[in-house]
Amino acid sequence: MTPVLELADVAARYRGARADVVSDVFLAVDPGESLALVGESGAGKTTLLRLLLGLARPTAGTVRFDGEPLALRHGQQMRRFRRSVQCVFQDPYSSLDPRRRIGSIVAEPLRSLGLDTRAGAAPKVSAALETVGLPADAAERYPHEFAGGRRQRIAIARATVCEPRVLLADEPVSALDVTTRVKVVDLLAALKRERGLTLVMVSHDLSVVAALCERTAVLERGGSSNRATPHVSSAPRPSVHPPPDRQRAPLARLTPGRFSVRPRRPARQEAAAAPPEHARTSAPGRGTTPGGRS
Ligand SMILES: Nc1ncnc2c1ncn2[C@@H]1O[C@H](COP(=O)(O)OP(=O)(O)OP(=O)(O)O)[C@@H](O)[C@H]1O
Ligand SMILES: [Mg+2]
Repeated sequence: MTPVLELADVAARYRGARADVVSDVFLAVDPGESLALVGESGAGKTTLLRLLLGLARPTAGTVRFDGEPLALRHGQQMRRFRRSVQCVFQDPYSSLDPRRRIGSIVAEPLRSLGLDTRAGAAPKVSAALETVGLPADAAERYPHEFAGGRRQRIAIARATVCEPRVLLADEPVSALDVTTRVKVVDLLAALKRERGLTLVMVSHDLSVVAALCERTAVLERGGSSNRATPHVSSAPRPSVHPPPDRQRAPLARLTPGRFSVRPRRPARQEAAAAPPEHARTSAPGRGTTPGGRS
């Protein structure tokens, strides 16, 4: 089976840095599989997702999409890639433009890929909102009218509106309180099940990994403790990997707080709250990049 996404002997280094952030990375993602990327903070998980998303270029090695090297200047391939591979970021507060209505935010991939006009996009936006459990009239509202969990649903609607084959998610539920986290994990599991989505997800939360992913890639720092040269081991790790019976267990097993290895967060995000004054508009992780594309 040809992997849908592949990193072959990849290294990445940020501009001005003395050492590679990641090196010697081999990672293949098969169609329909769910892969978790785990590892300590700073190990390079987000960097790997950015490479897989084509938001950054590797300083060595190759990123492949459907078996072909990802060529960021190859318009036709990139169009197919953007339609096939979408992403959800960690922070639902900074990843939605507060000045735009939800309908316009969700329709953005359809417009940027030239798939639909504004009028043509409307039914697809309604369907995407319905899929994530939001009412159709949400399209007329603004992000600040929604709390964290519903904002993340909006981000998932935006990522899935063009029916991608692959969803890359960088800690998609870590900014949410535990109860909301369960609901969003449930939604991702349903999308995976019903659409056969391939999922690559970064998470520190082993309960989320156990609920959603069949395979785990662990980023480990290699060499001396000061060298930032992690590598990926894509073999299943029993210590992290759930036993087969738990993989098939209903998501209700994700009892709030029960499996979480992270401290419980305050439940304030359940209540609708206005965004902070300083609410940022750009998607996270789009600053300086290895290879400097953004
Ligand atoms: N824009 C950047 N410019 C320079 N260095 C960066 C940049 N982004 C990340 N780094 C560095 O690259 C390393 C890996 O960062 P990355 O964000 O990929 O780690 P991570 O595994 O996602 O961490 P976390 O779990 O905290 O999100 C870190 O040492 C970080 O400081
Ligand atoms: Mg990260």
